[in-house]
Amino acid sequence: MPGDSTKSVHEAEPFDEHTGSLTTPIYETSTFGFSKAEDVPIAVADSGAKGYTYSRWDNPTVNRLEKKLAAFERGGDGAGFSSGMAAITTSIFAFLKKGTHILAIKDLYGGTYGLLHDLLPELGFSTDLVDTTDFGALERGVRKSTGIVYIESPTNPTMKLVDIAKAAKLAHANDALLLVDNTFASPINQTPLELGADVVLHSVTKYLNGHADLIAGAAVASQARAHKIKMMRREFGGTLDPLPAWLILRGMKTMAIRVRQQNANAMALAEFLSTHKKVATVHYPGLKDHPQHQLARKQMKGFGGMLSFELKGTTRDAMKFTESVKVATLAASLGGVETLVSQPYNMTHTQMSAKERASTGIPETLVRVSVGIEDVDDLIEDFRRALAAV
Ligand SMILES: Cc1ncc(COP(=O)(O)O)c(C=O)c1O
Repeated sequence: MPGDSTKSVHEAEPFDEHTGSLTTPIYETSTFGFSKAEDVPIAVADSGAKGYTYSRWDNPTVNRLEKKLAAFERGGDGAGFSSGMAAITTSIFAFLKKGTHILAIKDLYGGTYGLLHDLLPELGFSTDLVDTTDFGALERGVRKSTGIVYIESPTNPTMKLVDIAKAAKLAHANDALLLVDNTFASPINQTPLELGADVVLHSVTKYLNGHADLIAGAAVASQARAHKIKMMRREFGGTLDPLPAWLILRGMKTMAIRVRQQNANAMALAEFLSTHKKVATVHYPGLKDHPQHQLARKQMKGFGGMLSFELKGTTRDAMKFTESVKVATLAASLGGVETLVSQPYNMTHTQMSAKERASTGIPETLVRVSVGIEDVDDLIEDFRRALAAV
């Protein structure tokens, strides 16, 4: 099997058979013409595989990206979406039935947290969000009606891990599906389907695209489940457009080298921060003193480019740090080539009440870092200077 860099460059992107174009063409069209009326029902019934009808259903440029994502995540097929949240909401709804109970961890991306904690219960679905690092809480949370177990690992922003293989066994023993948001790890560092998960979700906005210049999402699963998700996508309509799909294909060509550089930079930055006298705690699964370091070694191929740390001091000190960095930028989002810092309590986790944030370990002095591909010495010097300004 080809390695990650070879796949990043070549997977699902043969040169164009009609023109010889080396790069994937952008099929920027809403609809597709037919010369024979009898071909219409075939294309409608087997959209994408046997012809195209309408770009909300399937599009050749988007399909190339979906095949590439499926190869990286070791799935049968993928579905491209206009955002990570479109991928998450559509995939959850694809597997919901009347009375389905959803069991999830508490540490979730804010939008997903809002969906599971507020919106779905308002629509009559029962959901439970349990302690992330206590696997017993997940086990106790399973009900007869549990149809979906939903996790993220590593979690945002405290870098907690969930044992994906164990969660898959737990879900399957109850005939439930395990859905895993793999955004933080990227498929270079972790492939949940290989660990037993049923659906992998991504905010493609992040590591997959890697250049902080568009919003997109994806789901990858077996061919049958990906088809089900695509049928729900036809209804919800959050399809990915061909132009951003093409930009993502371009961004993905450097995914393996980007992510490896981000892994190495994050490790060095985490080590620097853990020796700094103004830093109380560093959360990074690659550090030997991370409480779940052994689990990280077991299920991750690399420890990722995300870390967070708690400053000794006040909210104001953390704000001062985030506005004092010069190489890094104070901004939301993650996974791009540039280093970003943020304070989750007032940026990405405002959906949570102060009490919920406290119980999830998100103090006001927590700083999240999305480590980029800059020279690591420049990053360490930048953080050293910003910490001195605190
Ligand atoms: C872990 C995770 N999942 C999902 C999302 C949502 O993705 P999008 O912003 O592309 O809708 C985000 C966004 O930050 C995220 O961090």
